[in-house]
Amino acid sequence: MNIRPRRNRKSATIRQMVEETQISAAHLIYPIFLKDGHGIKEEVLSLPNNFRWSIDKLLPEIEACMELGVKTFDVFPAVDDALKDQMASYSWASDNFYLKAIQQIKDRFPEAVVMSDVAMDPYSSDGHDGLVRDGQIINDETLPILANMALAQAQAGVDIIGPSDMMDGRVGYLRSELDAAGFTDVSIMSYTAKYASAFYGPFRDALNSAPKSGDKKTYQMNPANKREALLEAQLDFDEGADMLMVKPALCYLDIITLLKENFPIPVTAYNVSGECAMVYAAAKNGWLDYDRAVHEMLISMRRAGADAILTYFAKDFAQQIKNA
Ligand code: PBG
Repeated sequence: MNIRPRRNRKSATIRQMVEETQISAAHLIYPIFLKDGHGIKEEVLSLPNNFRWSIDKLLPEIEACMELGVKTFDVFPAVDDALKDQMASYSWASDNFYLKAIQQIKDRFPEAVVMSDVAMDPYSSDGHDGLVRDGQIINDETLPILANMALAQAQAGVDIIGPSDMMDGRVGYLRSELDAAGFTDVSIMSYTAKYASAFYGPFRDALNSAPKSGDKKTYQMNPANKREALLEAQLDFDEGADMLMVKPALCYLDIITLLKENFPIPVTAYNVSGECAMVYAAAKNGWLDYDRAVHEMLISMRRAGADAILTYFAKDFAQQIKNA
């Protein structure tokens, strides 16, 4: 035998020397849930190890993450049902606890990058990402609502907004509204290929944001479609997105590769709540090794082409790398 591939695997040092894919804490974005109040750290039942935090408890947690090298946070609000309405108007209310918390995070940790979600669902009495009328999701009338939300978030100091709503034309609309208000430095990480997935369940539990009726299939993509992701990506790119996101990640590694090969801007992957919940559940039962499973999942997303990964494993994985 002239060629013995095993020679390149014969020791840890050689394996590391020829390793094709790297991952570090700098590639990770940590999604976290925020709740109004004081002294709150409430575990999400369907997403163990993840909590709804009040801001006083969250600040030290952010500090701990920063020390581990995780410096980008995607913060999601768990809004009281009484504050929800059809227009999601609480999302831009001046006394919004979430907007105040973002300001506090940015004041305390100026080098942290704070990302926010733009979609109506956490604030909507209908639990949909867009405006609902007669059971339909009204695309064009949703856009100004999303813009109000994005402008309020930009005003609060958000670095990156993440439109997750999948309305047509929203990236261009938000870009021009942000620019007109002077927020030319606020980035847009677009949820470009966001699929109508079964894997968002624990997230919707965390925020109590599941649709009150119907599903999201008229705006989120059909899991059977791949070429359509190119269309969504082309639109987001042309409309001014800074980064393209694929969501979920694990069942959509081919889509990550597709966008990475076809567009000259960063591609990110959202390792969503249901994907993480599966690992937590299996690990809890002793059915697989948590650290190894997490590492393998995250490295596969990087190998597929993801520049950065949003994952509920961010803190644990950063700790794991540090201990290694
Ligand atoms: C809001 C939004 C969702 C997620 C991120 N932003 C839920 C949804 O679209 O129903 C899911 C994230 C996760 O499952 O971790 N539009």
